[in-house]
Amino acid sequence: MPTQKDNIIVTGGAGFIGSHVVEHLLQHNYAVTVIDNFDPFYDKKIKQKNTSSFISNPDVTFLELDILDKSQLQNQLCGDYKAIIHLAAKAGVRPSIENPTSYQAVNVAGTQNMLEIARVKGIKQFVFASSSSVYGVNKNIPWQENDGLLFPISPYASTKISAELMGHVYSHLYGIRFLALRFFTVYGPRQRPDLAIHAFSKKILNNQPINFFGDGSTKRDYTYIDDIVAGVYSALHYTSSDYEVFNLGNHHAISLTEMVNTLEIVFEKKAIINKLPEQMGDVSITYADISKAQRLLNYNPQTPFNVGVANFKTWLLK
Ligand SMILES: NC(=O)c1ccc[n+]([C@@H]2O[C@H](COP(=O)([O-])OP(=O)(O)OC[C@H]3O[C@@H](n4cnc5c(N)ncnc54)[C@H](O)[C@@H]3O)[C@@H](O)[C@H]2O)c1
Repeated sequence: MPTQKDNIIVTGGAGFIGSHVVEHLLQHNYAVTVIDNFDPFYDKKIKQKNTSSFISNPDVTFLELDILDKSQLQNQLCGDYKAIIHLAAKAGVRPSIENPTSYQAVNVAGTQNMLEIARVKGIKQFVFASSSSVYGVNKNIPWQENDGLLFPISPYASTKISAELMGHVYSHLYGIRFLALRFFTVYGPRQRPDLAIHAFSKKILNNQPINFFGDGSTKRDYTYIDDIVAGVYSALHYTSSDYEVFNLGNHHAISLTEMVNTLEIVFEKKAIINKLPEQMGDVSITYADISKAQRLLNYNPQTPFNVGVANFKTWLLK
């Protein structure tokens, strides 16, 4: 008789990072229960396309469900689950300033609902998508997880801190292993259309001006999707302690000017620049110290920026 596959719940599995995580789990012989409500933050059709490689896979159960709907979560999650990888969220720093209440609801109450599912169903492992934005305007770069000084400057960032802390509560009270992964600007095939690399690439291709905020010196630690997925997968198997926070970055901060130059080289086209003042909520640099993830998760990002951007281009042009 074939052995039953371990079933992993992935929230936000129709999104950019989630769809890659689901594919990776299926490749490694897991069954996956995806929860996603196709939040209208960006086009549902894009998210449906993200799921096209696995939506008909017999090892996938797709639940179109809002993580705020506690009773439906309780009713529909009726299997045995090995772990929860909780990626569903209202994402994006700038839109959170326009609509802080909905960010608070989905990212904090929604996370609590998933922690409640873990508690009630006895699911021991909980991997949570946190964000580099929690560090905010902390000046001690590269940022380290054990630097307790978090200075968030957007509602989005503060929801991620709240969720990390709630994870600690559930870990302490109920023995749920909670692993918060602070992702640093993730890019690659299927990247969210609101994020700069995606938005700029389309504009460059269409000879439209790109909105270039500030003087080009702001820096981001861009991290390629496959490296992030490897870190998530490793956290799924981490068992050495019950609560940890990990930076998943690339340990290489790239300026806005450098990023645009790389796009110009990869797309073989000059960008038309529309200079604008710095944006509210944007931090000047994100830069990860990844030594903890290297040590405990064997996390070793492999993808140079120009290679990752070239892979993104190949996907975009398809
Ligand atoms: N992309 C990045 O650079 C980045 C950086 C740091 C942290 N993160 C975090 O990683 C996670 C995934 O990000 P992403 O870039 O793939 O975003 P995404 O928007 O592509 O994916 C999030 C998914 O969650 C779903 N979702 C939203 N609200 C929901 C709800 N109420 N119920 C059920 N599903 C819901 C959306 O429909 C979407 O498919 C998020 O938690 C995000 O905050 C992303």
